[in-house]
Amino acid sequence: MSIPGSAYAVVYKSKYGASEKYARIIAGNLQADLFNADEDASEQSLCTYQTIIWCGGIYAGRINGADILRKHLEEFKGKSVIVVSVGNTPADRLDILRKVRRNSIPRKHYQAIKFHHFVARANFSALTMGDRIMFTFRRLAVSLKPVGLRSEGENRFLSEYGRDMQVIDEAAAMAFAAKIDDFALPG
Ligand SMILES: Cc1cc2nc3c(=O)[nH]c(=O)nc-3n(C[C@H](O)[C@H](O)[C@H](O)COP(=O)(O)O)c2cc1C
Repeated sequence: MSIPGSAYAVVYKSKYGASEKYARIIAGNLQADLFNADEDASEQSLCTYQTIIWCGGIYAGRINGADILRKHLEEFKGKSVIVVSVGNTPADRLDILRKVRRNSIPRKHYQAIKFHHFVARANFSALTMGDRIMFTFRRLAVSLKPVGLRSEGENRFLSEYGRDMQVIDEAAAMAFAAKIDDFALPG
């Protein structure tokens, strides 16, 4: 079992690196211990922390790594758990983000969890063959739709398609870290 040097643990699961970058900024600002969900984030190692910040990219409407977090939630009772999603959904689209959260974490846990979201995109040139093919099909499907029927997200997808535009909002991550106690549950 690791001996924590901080009250905070920041855990990430990241396919194209954006969630990891956000997690590193947050951990750096909080002097928190950093864990990769796939490697060293065992229940035992995390149970020693009072606040657990869990970061994962959104894929097809679900937060990457939420399945791992769900397995630990019973053990995390009494701790502050903050789930941070990272994706191309704008932070003000709470309607979409609520669905993403519901798809990822069962509602019965919501009393014990807070959520936050950062915007990021994967660079097109970094996409795996499978993701590239999926994007290509989606582009075709959206292009075939009459312009007036395309959603804001679909228009954004078309305009961003094929581009390398991963931008990490470092200032937003630092502001989140600075206000972390607002996210903590009352003791
Ligand atoms: C195949 C694929 C599906 C995606 N689906 C969504 C989605 O449903 N909603 C969203 O907001 N972002 C979506 N994204 C954007 C990713 O969430 C974004 O690139 C994020 O930075 C990924 O985090 P990561 O690099 O830490 O894995 C998708 C990206 C890919 C490649």
